[in-house]
Amino acid sequence: MRTMKMKNLLIMSFLWLSISGVALAQKVASPNGEVQMQFELLEDGTPAYSLSYKGKPVIKTSKLGLHLKNDEHSLIDNFEVIEREESAFDETWETVWGEENEIRNHYNELAVILNQKPTDREMIIRFRVFDDGLGFRYEFPQQQNLGHFIVEEERTQFAMTGDHTAFWIPGDYDTQEYDYIESRLSEIRGLMETSITDNLSQTSFSDTGVQTSLLLKTDDGLYINLHEAALLDYSAMHLELDDENMVFQSWLTPDVTGNKVYMIAPGKSPWRTVIVSDDARDILASRMTYNLNDPVAIDDTSWIKPVKYVGVWWEMITGKSSWHYTNDFPAVRLGVTDYENATPNNTHGATTENVKRYIDFAAEHGFDGVLVEGWNIGWEDWFGNSKDYVFDFMTPYPDFDLDEVRDYAKSKGVEMIMHHETSSSVRNYERHLDAAYQFMKDNGYNSVKSGYVGDILPRGENHYSQWLVNHYQYAIEKAADYEIMVNAHEAVRPTGVARTWPNLIANESARGTEYQAFGGSKPNHVTVIPFTRLIGGPMDYTPGIFEMDISKANPDNDSWVNSTIANQLALYVTMYSPLQMAADFPENYERFMDAFQFIKDVGMDWEKSVYLEAEPGSYITIARKEKGTNDWFVGNVNGETRRTSNISFDFLDKGKTYIATIYSDAKDAHYRNNPQAYEIRKVVVNNKSKLKQGSAPGGGYAISIIEADKSETRGLKKL
Ligand code: NOJ
Ligand code: CA
Repeated sequence: MRTMKMKNLLIMSFLWLSISGVALAQKVASPNGEVQMQFELLEDGTPAYSLSYKGKPVIKTSKLGLHLKNDEHSLIDNFEVIEREESAFDETWETVWGEENEIRNHYNELAVILNQKPTDREMIIRFRVFDDGLGFRYEFPQQQNLGHFIVEEERTQFAMTGDHTAFWIPGDYDTQEYDYIESRLSEIRGLMETSITDNLSQTSFSDTGVQTSLLLKTDDGLYINLHEAALLDYSAMHLELDDENMVFQSWLTPDVTGNKVYMIAPGKSPWRTVIVSDDARDILASRMTYNLNDPVAIDDTSWIKPVKYVGVWWEMITGKSSWHYTNDFPAVRLGVTDYENATPNNTHGATTENVKRYIDFAAEHGFDGVLVEGWNIGWEDWFGNSKDYVFDFMTPYPDFDLDEVRDYAKSKGVEMIMHHETSSSVRNYERHLDAAYQFMKDNGYNSVKSGYVGDILPRGENHYSQWLVNHYQYAIEKAADYEIMVNAHEAVRPTGVARTWPNLIANESARGTEYQAFGGSKPNHVTVIPFTRLIGGPMDYTPGIFEMDISKANPDNDSWVNSTIANQLALYVTMYSPLQMAADFPENYERFMDAFQFIKDVGMDWEKSVYLEAEPGSYITIARKEKGTNDWFVGNVNGETRRTSNISFDFLDKGKTYIATIYSDAKDAHYRNNPQAYEIRKVVVNNKSKLKQGSAPGGGYAISIIEADKSETRGLKKL
């Protein structure tokens, strides 16, 4: 019986091999069997793979390989399989911060060891098949015939099965701060130019090049996310679409000479990832990107903790005040000490007095920290003409008394958050980094917001090239030595590296709230970001704007924040981050103290998350249980179309009673003309409760659900 079965199996696989006409095909299924990857060598010895989900094709046969510089054979074809290693892995790890306490890392692995016949070189392609998708990478073992080499282009394909709907931003080596475009793949070429000019006037490198993390939706209801994991010592990957055949191919970020990656064996590429499901909520719940990164590399992580903060920031973003202290340009030529003699411009935001106002507000409302931008000299020269030595990260402006601010914050139990705008002068930053971090520790700063605005210096380098990727990583690892948490803006998009280095508590690397003061963002932007940018790690999105009319802050700025107040509240739940800002002015919060209460109450670190409703571009509803309490928080963000959400509270503990405070859009709320119309109601709920709740265009709702005893619920209605 047994032998019969074996025989049948052998015959079947033989048949299958001859039908497909390829040699050495091999399938690997995910632990639950729903995701299946097939590896094969094409006739000319080119490695290839394909992927299916519940029997439906996701990725058609796609080639794998790398084009090397000055190398006749490259690592493209003429391979033979010399060995395959199959293994299974199942482990649950604890998060330092996150959307849950524990993450299960469960996959089946296939490592294909290849030999390139004419060159006698070895390359391994390692595949990991999870229930939520596929990760694979190239590995270059140490060997006689492969030492140093330069990757001219990686040739990894992702062959799509049709003209899918995509949520994309244009390929760009220097910025991701675009509004997402929703279109068919075949429409990308036509939309490329307008999308670039509408956004940032950047020049894209290709008519069909897009950035990852990219979200696709197929006509038969599959959601597919393409991205990368563990981007280390390599350049960031874009995807270029062959829009006749609907095949994406990797397009790496070049350095100033056009080279893409410098490798030395032993070495490896980042993981290339495909997350797939027929339920959009599973894309949000996927932890594959973290799982493909190494475990935590920091022994004692007790100093890493979530931070809720306010700051002297929105003032400058709206143009109400300035980062720089004087209008004398360029101030550096006046000499550092001459700042004392420079004429103040009287719009400088980071004055001791103003900062104290924010410290008082933070202390009164229980915030952990206060960020101050524009506290240090150099901003005049940066705006004047960028040189590579503008900032020293240590010398305050004359009207910012660092000692006084430090002592005042300490007396109020508030932490100051450091700001390092590097002006993209990377060499200058590295030159100062140790001293700057030490200066932070000496003055009680435990976290830094860094930034890389403008063209990279040395000139010609790109924000997402290998050298820069290594720089961002260097700054994170060095910060860990000093027990400093990092929030890097304009750095490369995250790829789950925060699993290994959880002191990277956030990045920007996408279009944040600041654009609401630079002309506005699409009202459905926040229903896309969790499916794309947030796949790689948390974002310092800086939500919490209550005054949508920016001309009230600065009469010369006619921007409008395309969001309702209820939508702004929901972002604290839907945009997961261990770093959350309440970005608006204290005086704006003081006008809406009842709504502000949600920002004060909302948790920052979660035991578990339940994805209740999700459709990219349209809506997202998430419930999260705060770590160490029985409190739950729910957030719903809505796109352009008015919508009613139906949710069940069955995630709550059985038998317990809770008071839910629901912050929702008023019936007539609308992001465009009535964004401040909200309602707050308190009701009693348990795990059998159901809620039917409307959300305005660009709106949403936020709910805090706090366990209560009988006496507290008296007089309150049941939901
Ligand atoms: C851009 C950042 O995104 C923003 O938050 C910051 O205020 C400015 N750069 C100045 O550093
Ligand atoms: Ca930015």
